[in-house]
Amino acid sequence: MRIGTPLSPSATKVMMLGSGELGKEVVIELQRFGVEVIAVDRYADAPAHQVAHRAYVIDMTDGAALRTLVELERPHLVVPEIEAIATDMLAEIERDSLAEIIPTARATQLTMNREGIRCLAAEDLLLPTSPYAFASSADELRAEIEGRIGFPCFVKPVMSSSGKGQSLVYSADDIDAAWDAALSGGRVEQTRVIVEGKIEFDYEITLLTVRAKGPGGEIETHFCAPIGHLQKNGDYVESWQPQAMSPVALRRAQEVAAKVTDSLGGRGIFGVELFVKGDDVWFSEVSPRPHDTGLVTLATQRLSEFALHARAILGLPVDVALREAGASAVIYGGMEKKAIAFESVDHALEVTGADIRLFGKPESFQKRRMGVAVACGPDVDIARQRAREAAGRVVPVKG
Ligand SMILES: Nc1ncnc2c1ncn2[C@@H]1O[C@H](COP(=O)(O)OP(=O)(O)O)[C@@H](O)[C@H]1O
Ligand SMILES: [Mg+2]
Repeated sequence: MRIGTPLSPSATKVMMLGSGELGKEVVIELQRFGVEVIAVDRYADAPAHQVAHRAYVIDMTDGAALRTLVELERPHLVVPEIEAIATDMLAEIERDSLAEIIPTARATQLTMNREGIRCLAAEDLLLPTSPYAFASSADELRAEIEGRIGFPCFVKPVMSSSGKGQSLVYSADDIDAAWDAALSGGRVEQTRVIVEGKIEFDYEITLLTVRAKGPGGEIETHFCAPIGHLQKNGDYVESWQPQAMSPVALRRAQEVAAKVTDSLGGRGIFGVELFVKGDDVWFSEVSPRPHDTGLVTLATQRLSEFALHARAILGLPVDVALREAGASAVIYGGMEKKAIAFESVDHALEVTGADIRLFGKPESFQKRRMGVAVACGPDVDIARQRAREAAGRVVPVKG
């Protein structure tokens, strides 16, 4: 495995599609290996733009624009950081051997739509999932819920993330509102939803799973320690690692993660989301890329999920060992303003074991993730208190 010199004909070039906070950390890790990085997003001055060699602003759902940029830059690897990409064009780019798509174009196609990944997991791989159905009208949705799925249930646009357009439906009276919310909350103009029976889990985890080259060149699968997390309205607010699990539940979680990541293929890190009750494990969804709840690994692992992704995609060996317990807590913007500032960062860093990352996003929204506090500790409970305390001490203000 060789790596060239950036900004020279020998450069090893990586194009990030999506330049948010997760991409920013991946870019920093790639920079440490002397990789030439091109960061792309739909808006200027996105977090990863600020640490890359070159930055572009394009509509990544525009296949022609995407191909033009790949032909101009000729990266060795194209690394999606988000779901909202013209994935059919990624498949063409892969087929034409223009660039390698991480982890595979098929993985990006299947996971950008809840229907693709759910059918793969439940029907092809026979993994346990919540009961589910798809619907293309309010009437069809009502028939599926009343006939088969029951209450309570979640209604989600098939293409959405971060809980957008998602509703928890308790009774027949809520169905029309859930349909309307899904229609307006989806990522693209769409009229299809998934409805899932609610799993009454004890806790939910992200099992970070890495597919990386082993010493003989064959792909090996590695599991990080499970990450527990707390979601509010479909968006993560806190995560911690390790989440305590029974040995049986952990083995089942790893089996599910191995099956789904084997099937998606390629190299890189995957965030496998699972629900756990006692020894029972349900597959929920998977990101073929670093996961937001995995920000905690900045505090807990020798190699964060971002360093693991960088190594795995470059064909380098990985080490998923946990170093110590830790937690993360999200810092929201709390206001609708451009160019805000953060006060009391010094005060936050006085919390033992805590660290703060500010993402440098050019514009704040009430519920936009602008930074994160991570903390290590002797156990998860103490680490969670520290992370929450540190996050709470950072005060977003008008710039
Ligand atoms: N079927 C379900 N049963 C129980 N909780 C669910 C179910 N579906 C979603 N949730 C809750 O909502 C969160 C977000 O749902 P998810 O499908 O992961 O959407 P997103 O793609 O927006 O992350 C989950 O992490 C979980 O807390
Ligand atoms: Mg999720």
